[in-house]
Amino acid sequence: MRKNILSAVIASVMAVSAMMHVAEAADKVKIGFLVKQPEEPWFQTEWRFADKAAKDNGFEVLKIAAPDGERTLAALDSLAANGAQGFVICTPDPRLGPSIVAKAKALNLKIVAVDDRFVGSDGKFMEDVPYLGMDAHAVGQKQGSLLMDEAGKRGWKLAETGAIVNTFEELDTAHQRTSGSVESLLAAGFPKENIYFAANRTTDIPGSFDASNIMLTQHPDKKNWLIIGMNDNAVLGGIRATEGAGFKAPNVIGIGINGTDVVAELEKKDVTGLYGSLLLSPNVHGYKTTMMVYDWVAKGIEPPKFTPVSEATLITRENFKQKLKEMGLM
Ligand code: GLA
Repeated sequence: MRKNILSAVIASVMAVSAMMHVAEAADKVKIGFLVKQPEEPWFQTEWRFADKAAKDNGFEVLKIAAPDGERTLAALDSLAANGAQGFVICTPDPRLGPSIVAKAKALNLKIVAVDDRFVGSDGKFMEDVPYLGMDAHAVGQKQGSLLMDEAGKRGWKLAETGAIVNTFEELDTAHQRTSGSVESLLAAGFPKENIYFAANRTTDIPGSFDASNIMLTQHPDKKNWLIIGMNDNAVLGGIRATEGAGFKAPNVIGIGINGTDVVAELEKKDVTGLYGSLLLSPNVHGYKTTMMVYDWVAKGIEPPKFTPVSEATLITRENFKQKLKEMGLM
């Protein structure tokens, strides 16, 4: 009899505690994290650190792929329906800024933009929306000067060297990076007439591969190639194109930007034209933006309008494992 009472008590205590867990989960702050290209390791890393922020602070992150405008706006509805109070976003197109802001306002969701800054209908940045991003021009300049250093070390004659610049002018951060890179080339004496601009149709490896291919076909006289682009994939596509055109690794130098998306390339047994990459801080981008939204919705602390993140470290075959480990990325 006693035993029965005891087990009934235990059972009801367990039921109450289970109910409390459910209530806790329902009470948990929820924050969305929307990214334009979920297939890019860069964005997967941002997500990983957003999850870490949530785990460290007892809230929940809803990770959503937002590859186009329609899916972005639909995601905001579903965030609101699921009880989220705000979100971080790397938008598929900065010009969606005004519609994203209007919709978020209607749904009472707080926004922090990451990586790609919103652009208003007047073509200017929407400086009212809190944004975290890097100094794109400075990173581009660094890419250009490192490429020139390496070309110098290899003793290349610049007259017989071409530079393919994979551009994506629709995106300001891309423009800032590639124009910065070209500036450094010119400042270091690279001949202007050997710089070829390849407009990429999409921001992925096929996009830069196709555009770079055209340049290689148009300029068959060049012996060596520098490959420029706004991120790792923009450079990797160019590297693949030089391989297709028969160039060997010693005659090609590419330096990416991100660092996250070249790990498999640097792990390849045979050296390729990809010399290295400028490793940024996706850990900071993911963790900090998530905390900015969390502190805003949970504590009423409004984030600053602009948070620059400027670290960019060259990783090569020699040091990439160590550098990525140091940053908790490997
Ligand atoms: C853009 C690029 C990404 C990454 C981030 C860094 O969004 O598309 O690959 O470089 O910028 O801020």
